[in-house]
Amino acid sequence: MIGKIPLKNRMIVVATNNEHKLREIREILERFEILPAKEFVEDFNPEEIGNSFCENALIKAKELKKYIEYPILADDSGLEVFSLGGEPGIYSSRYSIEGTDQANVEKLLNRLKGKKDKSARFVCCMTLIVGERVIKREGYVYGRIIDQPRGENGFGYDPVFIPDGFKVTFAEMIPLEKNKLSHRRKALEKIRIELEALDV
Ligand code: IMP
Repeated sequence: MIGKIPLKNRMIVVATNNEHKLREIREILERFEILPAKEFVEDFNPEEIGNSFCENALIKAKELKKYIEYPILADDSGLEVFSLGGEPGIYSSRYSIEGTDQANVEKLLNRLKGKKDKSARFVCCMTLIVGERVIKREGYVYGRIIDQPRGENGFGYDPVFIPDGFKVTFAEMIPLEKNKLSHRRKALEKIRIELEALDV
């Protein structure tokens, strides 16, 4: 624990140190002050041992709650491919042995060889803890997986995912465009409605 930051009215601590996620969250929850876990806890990296995105998000949120009393937001996300029974799912970041984005994508493309149905969705579960209340909201973006990676932007499975209604992959879009459609945005929009209602 690195000491307390003075309580501000509309402050939320996010159970991540991922700059990409923090930027997206700040953009959507613009009326709130969003602080990363590292401002309060050194080496915040709880083990994700849940069986669903929401279970993992709750694990992260509860871990952070041990250290602070402010509202907490945690998320977990990943890709689900329907013809693979939802793989890689909660294992999205550690799908391959190497666990790098490139190796994960390669494994996915190998597993999909010969499959006709390449439809997939990104899933995000956002979990908010405010006092005793736990609010979970999910967001989805549907699309399909292509055979060859395309594009340089984004991360993870972005180069092989084309969202429905588009011809380009997430990695070929500028971040602003992707963030408008993303599973995280959809989950966050729902959380924002809850936050406004709570008026923390
Ligand atoms: P986490 O939510 O940080 O645990 O992310 C899990 C994994 O899901 C990431 O490492 C990526 O492999 C994948 N993932 C989640 N969201 C995205 C996205 O927006 N684009 C591409 N891959 C994603």
